[in-house]
Amino acid sequence: MASKLKIKVNGLVHNVTASLDTPLLYVLHNELHLHGPRFGCGLAQCGACSVLLDGKEIRSCVTPVAAVSGKTITTLEGLPAMWSKTRGTTGATPAALHPLQQAWIEVQVPQCGYCQNGMLIQAADLLATTKNPTEKNIRQALNGHLCRCGTYPAIIAAVQRAAKLMAKGA
Ligand code: FES
Ligand code: FES
Repeated sequence: MASKLKIKVNGLVHNVTASLDTPLLYVLHNELHLHGPRFGCGLAQCGACSVLLDGKEIRSCVTPVAAVSGKTITTLEGLPAMWSKTRGTTGATPAALHPLQQAWIEVQVPQCGYCQNGMLIQAADLLATTKNPTEKNIRQALNGHLCRCGTYPAIIAAVQRAAKLMAKGA
């Protein structure tokens, strides 16, 4: 049976109508038209569907929408605004890109791109608490994310590049 819910995504509160056990990913795609999170395995195994829930990475393919009511969701689309808020420039000079996205471009990370949403979201989670991550830190953080194209070395370089950009307040 469908229920009415309020969910906060990328700073906006949305009224949605869905069954309480509907995966959050389906609501993001079908109701809010946010396609940064991808459907990969549907089993919490690959990380393609990752989003931030109150700043921590979760798998939206196995998270019931009812579980996020009243909490804050950030998707890939919301990373620039999140960064603007972090550095305190909301409204003045909002960032066009999160430093991670800028670094991803500079390092030319993606191949097919399918996994990259999850990599970026997990890296955002990591950099929120680990300002200068080692290669080991990054490997451990991204351990549950699969890339069939083998972009792992480029991802490590890009996360470390993003950490430098963030330190400069880029
Ligand atoms: S689609 Fe969610 S973890 Fe693979
Ligand atoms: S870039 Fe293709 S799966 Fe990672």
